[in-house]
Amino acid sequence: MTDEYKIIEHKYDVVVVGAGGAGLRATFGMAQKGLKTACLTKVFPTRSHTVAAQGGMSASLGNMGEDSWQWHMYDTVKGSDWLGDQDAIEYMCREAVPSVIELEHYGVPFSRTDEGKIYQRPFGGMTTNFGEGIAQRTCAAADRTGHAILHTLYQQSLKHDAEFFIEYFALDLVMDDDGNCRGVLAWCLEDGTLHLFRGHETVLATGGYGRSYFSCTSAHTCTGDGNAMVLRAGLPLQDMEFIQFHPTGIYGSGCLITEGVRGEGGYLTNSEGERFMERYAPNAKDLASRDVVSRSMTIEIREGRGVGKDKDHIHLHLEHLGPEVINERLPGIAESAEIFAGVDVTKEPIPVIPTVHYNMGGIPTNYHGEVVTLKDKDPDHVVQGLMAIGEAACVSVHGANRLGSNSLLDLIVFGRAAAIRAAEKVEPGQPHTPLPEGAVDKLVARFDKARNASGTTPTAKIRDNLQRTMQNNAAVFRTGDVMQEGIDKLKEVCDSFTDVQVSDRSLIWNTDLVETLELENLLQCAAVSIHGALNREESRGAHAREDFPDRDDENWMKHTLANLNDDWSVSFEYRPVHTYTLTNEIEYIKPKARVY
Ligand code: FUM
Repeated sequence: MTDEYKIIEHKYDVVVVGAGGAGLRATFGMAQKGLKTACLTKVFPTRSHTVAAQGGMSASLGNMGEDSWQWHMYDTVKGSDWLGDQDAIEYMCREAVPSVIELEHYGVPFSRTDEGKIYQRPFGGMTTNFGEGIAQRTCAAADRTGHAILHTLYQQSLKHDAEFFIEYFALDLVMDDDGNCRGVLAWCLEDGTLHLFRGHETVLATGGYGRSYFSCTSAHTCTGDGNAMVLRAGLPLQDMEFIQFHPTGIYGSGCLITEGVRGEGGYLTNSEGERFMERYAPNAKDLASRDVVSRSMTIEIREGRGVGKDKDHIHLHLEHLGPEVINERLPGIAESAEIFAGVDVTKEPIPVIPTVHYNMGGIPTNYHGEVVTLKDKDPDHVVQGLMAIGEAACVSVHGANRLGSNSLLDLIVFGRAAAIRAAEKVEPGQPHTPLPEGAVDKLVARFDKARNASGTTPTAKIRDNLQRTMQNNAAVFRTGDVMQEGIDKLKEVCDSFTDVQVSDRSLIWNTDLVETLELENLLQCAAVSIHGALNREESRGAHAREDFPDRDDENWMKHTLANLNDDWSVSFEYRPVHTYTLTNEIEYIKPKARVY
């Protein structure tokens, strides 16, 4: 069967899969350090989902008021509801400052203060003095920060001679018998050839799996490809039960309206015109952490105070900011609101609803970007040859809930960290040892099976069933009964994948096959998410269980590691949360009640 496929072999020092913010920062950093670097991506680099990031990237520059990385770290630990690893959080918050200055020097066109410094806006959960004041910490390029960063990083990658393989769909990891990663198999959509990319490090920067839900802010490409490859390689994913709902997706379309709107002074109201966040978060109000705001909005709607004919959404106001602020700081969202909601934001509120936005869980890594797993009682055992960064990874700096603007930061800091680590581990031009006999055969067989799927159920139908199940059964508020129902339904959906219909057998530009492979990835990610959510019997961060309303540090301050079995059931193990810091410049931040 494999004879039917032409497999072209490539040898690189390092191979990066994905060309979003994390993938490009790693690609450029590795190439800059003299490593022969390949970057494969299923879409053109500047179309990666980072392009849609709006509000900004956090870093305690202190350009617009006093700030410190220790305050940033405190906010991130509290935001994570004490599930984040504090060594990694310290690393991220300290490295934020040089990372953003580097980006400025590479050419990112940040907005400016009157003195010409990088402009910084308030964002949810970002405070001064360990929770006392509101910090202006989020570095912004108007409301198109991701766009600005992505274009700059792509230019830098080209300048440093990284080699791009564009519109290559990564299929599976190539593992050896000792459990080390030796590269990745990919399919070139343009000419239909299969490619074996050998790398001493393979870096997964494939983003999240937001598209497992019906309504999300994520691009259609966010299908958890890297996460599913890891599961198929027999490795676990971490903390997949934690899924973030962004408070302000446009009602109906899911399109993101940046938290930067509330950072610039926007606010939410219910059907009574009340600024209800004052009741739920008396200090931070509309700038409370995202999980808190999303839950408050959901309660308002449930209790009959939603707006609109069906009372099923909330209003976001920025009319009072005036056209000048809107045009200078928020031009993109004014356009989105006009296109997707028919709203002139200078005159009327935007209809919004909590919308799936981010996966806190993912591929477990340490703060160098190396994939870790439990082995021989070592909870931090490094899987050789495999790294993961960005939303695909779980470092874990976001724990149970990510703060807004810590995502662009995570992409850049850990993309950069992966480049530093790879340069320490890999010698430029180091030879590759032969692969074990038949190492790619079963990977090709899986591809061939999907290509020849001749069932009766269209891919779109199975995907729709998946998305509706996740939307209804793994929502902002969760209960055991509803999630068990979701697990039962999802099992039927997953089983129906054996009857999937791929009508096009071509190897060239077969989008039907791409969507089917993506669907399998989504199903695998969704299965570990919903099983993980039922398994975790407490409420923490974005995981809000009505039947277990309290955080339970005694039993659940631990990371879930989930393995997917062949029958779509899930097995769990646990890793301890890192309750230590990296240096003695800050002490471990002890758990306490999380109020805003
Ligand atoms: O609201 C936003 O601009 C999104 C930012 C983020 O998710 O970090």
